[in-house]
Amino acid sequence: MFQINDNYQKLPGSYLFSTIAKKVAAFTAANPDKTIIRLGIGDVTQPLAPAILAAMHKAVDEMGCAETFHGYAPDLGYDFLRRAIAENDYRARGCDIEEDEIFVSDGAKSDSANIQEIFAAESRIAVCDPVYPVYVDSNAMAGRTGTYDKETERWSNVIYMPCTAENGFVPEFPEETPDLIYLCLPNNPTGTTFTKSKLQEWVDYANRVGAVILYDGAYEAYISEPDVAHSIYECSGAKTCAIELKSFSKNAGFTGVRLGYAVVPKELKCGDVSLRNMWARRHGTKFNGAPYIVQRAGEAVYSREGKAQLKEQVAYYMKNAAAIKEGLKKSGYTVFGGVNAPYIWLKTPSGTTSWEFFDRLLENANVVGTPGAGFGPSGEGYFRLTAFGSYENTLAALERIQKM
Ligand code: MLT
Repeated sequence: MFQINDNYQKLPGSYLFSTIAKKVAAFTAANPDKTIIRLGIGDVTQPLAPAILAAMHKAVDEMGCAETFHGYAPDLGYDFLRRAIAENDYRARGCDIEEDEIFVSDGAKSDSANIQEIFAAESRIAVCDPVYPVYVDSNAMAGRTGTYDKETERWSNVIYMPCTAENGFVPEFPEETPDLIYLCLPNNPTGTTFTKSKLQEWVDYANRVGAVILYDGAYEAYISEPDVAHSIYECSGAKTCAIELKSFSKNAGFTGVRLGYAVVPKELKCGDVSLRNMWARRHGTKFNGAPYIVQRAGEAVYSREGKAQLKEQVAYYMKNAAAIKEGLKKSGYTVFGGVNAPYIWLKTPSGTTSWEFFDRLLENANVVGTPGAGFGPSGEGYFRLTAFGSYENTLAALERIQKM
């Protein structure tokens, strides 16, 4: 008789954003006359930039012609894209990353869920709390997180590092020593980040204790302050302790196009085993490459026109972030984030849990947000709004919230 992977049975509920989507669908079915504004999942709303569209059209035409047709992509990514990434995201910033340390994928969600596979089953993971739920869920599926306690909403074998207003959303080094440390900076969901010198302390810590930092830089394009690192490899010693995961979803609107990459430096080793070679082996076996058309679109992100157009797109979303932040402040809310990231993290009115606030917002303002508790126990009492809506919808949502 076959057996299932029992770890799946331990997972509480459904994936956070699926739960929200179900709740919103039920509300919409019961209230078909209401117009819902969605500031929940961090999904972009602006169309693809013209430079990207042009590159995609050209690539589509190439696919229609025998001489320029492309079949399977190289499993680790086309050279043209890996070169553009190495040059623009790393060497231009003084980070010595080579093309063959870059692995093109279909997005940072899959990479951040899959990367745990190359580590031992008994590895101890440490996560910021609150945190993007994929890190913990994927480790739970792999059987690494122990048992889930419904009361405390904690896994027995996860090191939670609380990030709250009290510590400025910067965690302390954990008391127990982790093997893997997930850092998402700028942070999803709090919208806050660390200074470069604080990040350097984490790199030094990881090297000292022999841990690997799994660094999710999906929101890097939104950094506006000068003392914030754009890559963990700006910190000295990061190449011996960090894997960086990047996405084209938030900087270039690829949520529906799908493209990302992982950087696994050659210096990152366990004894004399290279993690770069392990990831190459895994990627080659389990992934058949992002589509040619999509990788050409990714290349256009780094063109002169692409860069200029995407700068405008980021500025558009950050104008929304500023409007939400200021508007909520005026209405008496305590708000965080929204300066180096497209997320606003607000404190729910006292005595209101984050799921109660979700219901109240949906029912009274017909606005969808994300309850902080969905990102971990320390997210209770907080709520996330995304700046990825249209400007008009953002202002309309704000007005509705202010009237509540
Ligand atoms: C979020 O809303 O946290 C993200 O959009 C989810 C994702 O990027 O997968």
